[in-house]
Amino acid sequence: MNKIDVVLGLQYGDEGKGKITNQMAKSGAYDYVMRYNGGSNAGHTIYDGGKKVVTHLVPCGVLHGIPSVIGSGCVLHINNFFIELDYLDGLGYDTSLIKVAYNCHIVTDDHIDEDSKDVSIGTTRTGNGPCYRDKVTRVGKRAEDIKELKNFIFDISSMGSDKNILAEGAQGYWLDVDQGDYPYVTSSNCGIGAVLNNGFSHKDINKVVGVAKAYSTYVGAKQYQKTDDPIFEEIRKIGLEYGATTGRSRQIDWLDLNEVSIACLRNGVDHLIINKLDVLEQLNCWNIYDPNTINKILNFESKDSFKDYIRNEISSVCPGIEIEFQESPH
Ligand code: IMP
Ligand code: MG
Repeated sequence: MNKIDVVLGLQYGDEGKGKITNQMAKSGAYDYVMRYNGGSNAGHTIYDGGKKVVTHLVPCGVLHGIPSVIGSGCVLHINNFFIELDYLDGLGYDTSLIKVAYNCHIVTDDHIDEDSKDVSIGTTRTGNGPCYRDKVTRVGKRAEDIKELKNFIFDISSMGSDKNILAEGAQGYWLDVDQGDYPYVTSSNCGIGAVLNNGFSHKDINKVVGVAKAYSTYVGAKQYQKTDDPIFEEIRKIGLEYGATTGRSRQIDWLDLNEVSIACLRNGVDHLIINKLDVLEQLNCWNIYDPNTINKILNFESKDSFKDYIRNEISSVCPGIEIEFQESPH
């Protein structure tokens, strides 16, 4: 059996999965790192020994000399892929470690043109939706059809069945095309099932690490932020809450524990990481939406009481879950 550790976002993306995946990849425990969904709509910001590295598609294993696979659940634009390779090459990383699943679908320029006209969803305009549509309507192109990708083509079967794999997710559970707030979702599945669709058994899953932030953010066309409390602007500035792909300002709101605990439950999260506590600490403001009363905000006096409340609430929904708190990486 393989042993797959999964890193999965529990909110709307931008929870800090890149940082966590990078911490785990660094451990040396993995034979492969695999991205299992999405395309270059994602933006993973990683600080590698003080160096800021922003990737959109390539999994972070390449930063640590680990073969890195763009799985069949992903979509890839050829030119953007090579731009990212050049960028990583320029930073001194060994891009010959990068592999592309033969059955990964190709984003075309037409897909990007079409997506660039979107106003209703607020997409990242990277051609994601049109590409997944063509995959599902069976008119898409796959990596195996593309001459320029010949040297990168990878069949998941060639891994064998006894590998340690780190599976890196993109976006977050509440942007999932089935489970999110449709139509304000991305066009792929972002939950645990998406990992298996890259060619694995549920028995291969070893550990699920769920990542959330100490507050909520969302980018897109719907109104997510409930009020225009000026503190949200401060959180945006301190937390650098601007899209890594599009530079758009992220909408900010207090932590929604119902969202996080449901995502933990449905994805079988073993280990929950709550990131960016330092942002709230700078403002000394510890708020959470009351999980039992809509739109009621609970104020906590201190970081410790905020953490205790989260621990108790999440553990009551997901008994036995490990909970860890972290700060911003920079
Ligand atoms: P698309 O994935 O580009 O089609 O965009 C659909 C929705 O998902 C939009 O609201 C995007 O802002 C959001 N989205 C897509 N990728 C990310 C991400 O990596 N982080 C945060 N939001 C994202
Ligand atoms: Mg991101």
